[in-house]
Amino acid sequence: MVTVTRRGYIGLPVERTDAIEKAQGKAQYVDDLRRPDMWYGAVVRSPVSHGFIEGLDRDPDFDWSRVVLVTPEDIPGRNVVESLVHDMPFLASQEVRYRGEPVALVAAPTREAARAAAAAVKPRIRAAPSLTVPDDVVRIYKEGGELEYLWRQDIRKGDIERGFREAEIVVEREYRTGYAEQLYLEPQGMIAVPQEDGGVLIEGSMQCPYYVHPELCALLNLPPEKVRVRQTVVGGAFGGKEDFPSLIAGYCALLALKSGRAVKMVFDREEDILFTTKRHPSWVRHRTGLTRDGRITGWQVDFLLIGGAYATLSPVVLARGIIHATIGYRCDNVLIEGRVVRTHMPPSGAFRGFGAPQAFWALESHVDELAEACGMRPDEFRLRNAYRGGDTMATGQKVPEEYGGPAVLRKALEQSRFEARFAHCSRGSTLTDRWYGIGLAYFCHGAGFTGDGEARIKARAAVELAGGGEGGPLVVIRASSTEMGQGAQTVLRQIVAEALGVPIESVSYPLPDTALVPDSGPTVASRTTMVVGAVLYDAAVAMKKALEGFVSQQFFDGADCVLEEAVFRSGSGQAVDFERAVQDYLRTAERQQRFEAVFSLPPGSQWDQENFRGDAYPDYSWACYVAEVEVERATLAIRPIRVTAVLDIGRVVNPVLAEGQVEGGLVQGLGYAMMEKVGVRDGLFEADRLQTYIVPGVLDIPEIRITFLEFPYRYSGPGAKGLGELPLNGVAPAIGNALKHAVGRRIHDLPLTPEKLFRAIEERLVEQ
Ligand code: MOS
Repeated sequence: MVTVTRRGYIGLPVERTDAIEKAQGKAQYVDDLRRPDMWYGAVVRSPVSHGFIEGLDRDPDFDWSRVVLVTPEDIPGRNVVESLVHDMPFLASQEVRYRGEPVALVAAPTREAARAAAAAVKPRIRAAPSLTVPDDVVRIYKEGGELEYLWRQDIRKGDIERGFREAEIVVEREYRTGYAEQLYLEPQGMIAVPQEDGGVLIEGSMQCPYYVHPELCALLNLPPEKVRVRQTVVGGAFGGKEDFPSLIAGYCALLALKSGRAVKMVFDREEDILFTTKRHPSWVRHRTGLTRDGRITGWQVDFLLIGGAYATLSPVVLARGIIHATIGYRCDNVLIEGRVVRTHMPPSGAFRGFGAPQAFWALESHVDELAEACGMRPDEFRLRNAYRGGDTMATGQKVPEEYGGPAVLRKALEQSRFEARFAHCSRGSTLTDRWYGIGLAYFCHGAGFTGDGEARIKARAAVELAGGGEGGPLVVIRASSTEMGQGAQTVLRQIVAEALGVPIESVSYPLPDTALVPDSGPTVASRTTMVVGAVLYDAAVAMKKALEGFVSQQFFDGADCVLEEAVFRSGSGQAVDFERAVQDYLRTAERQQRFEAVFSLPPGSQWDQENFRGDAYPDYSWACYVAEVEVERATLAIRPIRVTAVLDIGRVVNPVLAEGQVEGGLVQGLGYAMMEKVGVRDGLFEADRLQTYIVPGVLDIPEIRITFLEFPYRYSGPGAKGLGELPLNGVAPAIGNALKHAVGRRIHDLPLTPEKLFRAIEERLVEQ
């Protein structure tokens, strides 16, 4: 069920812009592209997890005549990824910090020749001790042993001592999650083409052209105008193509500039899984003080993420994690201590949810345990403690009088008939061969960049008038936001068509090219529809005003007119067609063709980055999932049978695409909850292909019921909030809570497998 308001194109299930070319196999992914005289690149990787480089030996029996080798000495600019903390080199030159870390690059005429050449380069490395297994990290941490931290951040509110003095009950529990792989269908890939002016053109699969662009300027020591970055069609990303593409783009560019030819590098699945970013494993301890009647008096959270060898995006993943660690529930006294541990594994990175899935696995499992500790039902406890208007969050951000949280919670409880179904307990019954369980999770996602992120980016986007002609577009969107399968191209066109009052066919949105588009910020953080959509709406409104002014002078003797449904109409009923007006308008060269706007935060927004106080996000999207599961008594196989999903994502721009995002995120979350597991052995991820990294298939998908409730973002024309990440955040705890209801035992670490259930049940038998 979808209940959305419709206002012209906003709220309309417009067909996807990119659907046909993808369905027909016509879309050109980077692996489909050839450039004249193109060679292939490959990476020479460290064979050890930690050590010091003493040299690189080239196999004397190998034919090196048609091979270009790049070592750190060949780097014209800075050998460091600028990102947030400048600690990761493009190529390690002295110390290697994870197995598989790039130490050199080769290019050769074929992919096979490049791989053979890479294998014929032997790094000589003096090995040193390493720390790679997440369980070891957690053990050392709990024993108070020594660890190196990539980042730390705390959040404090009120007086934590007092919070525990006032408590009548204290509940303390630990929750764990492991690595997870984004598993986009299209692996990482780039092509670099050297330009005649000494610059370079990069084309490839990426979320953020304006992350790649400055990294390459610094790496290659080139001015901005000599580096051009173009997105090719992206076959999925989920955060995995947020920062990593800067590396592979850098490798292709170095090889292209040294060889003087186009160089392509596309990872195969194994290389992609082994050496690109994963979701951060986490260990979270909640210690919570309560009164007997279920009020939370004090809340202390120890939040640990496993960051890998370099910081990369970890500071912001941690920021999102700790801000969401206790979110949704009133408490005056909070202390959240966040840490990211350094290990000798590839850097952990962005993956849909970005710290929030780890936070909600812990929080929403814990809240069920709090309810139980004071003898309340999980729904009762949540309704009693959910923020009310005027409350403050852990950061001090004020909760608006009207917001979507309580509404989605109530609606999901009602639709799923939670209370009645929760009362039904099949556990222990020998009359059935399956146990039934129901559980819920109440969660949110801060929409847009965290903290001062949006203030720093100042997202810009533009709309441009084009000539039409030959059925070409009349309006072109210029934004750096990328389509990666989520529907950005479609919804941004809808927003512009709506703001202008023209058919969506008049608006085109070509793939971003840094030579043509302003920096709208990266395509991450559930920010595109909300933030870039808001900016494009404003830009389109400015264009509409300019055109209306022009038509009024040119055609209507100064009488006011309005553009609606592609026609300018004056009060007295005169009319001019949109296309004709645009063509007339463009005949004079001086007229403004490009209309650009900038994002501004809600009025009065404040953020203290040092102490993490203030308005952490411009707004929040809210959701409640109720999951129902069955557990087969004989095998303990777990089957989710139904998920009732109620979400507030602000105004729904395209209900069909929005439902698709919820279904996709939910199924991805089911994999995280129940199946996906990446162990670590000898410094490598154990699962390195689809045979060993198990994800849900169509037969694993339960019945999904989706309802949207709209609490619009009040500071933009379209009123949309974030959608991309929210649907994944709450899946695991909803399933975990349902499982607890079904079998009477709680599993505290993901994934939720029959093996763990078996052990949990055996333990109970031993206790009895
Ligand atoms: Mo994302 S996980 O903010 O690319």
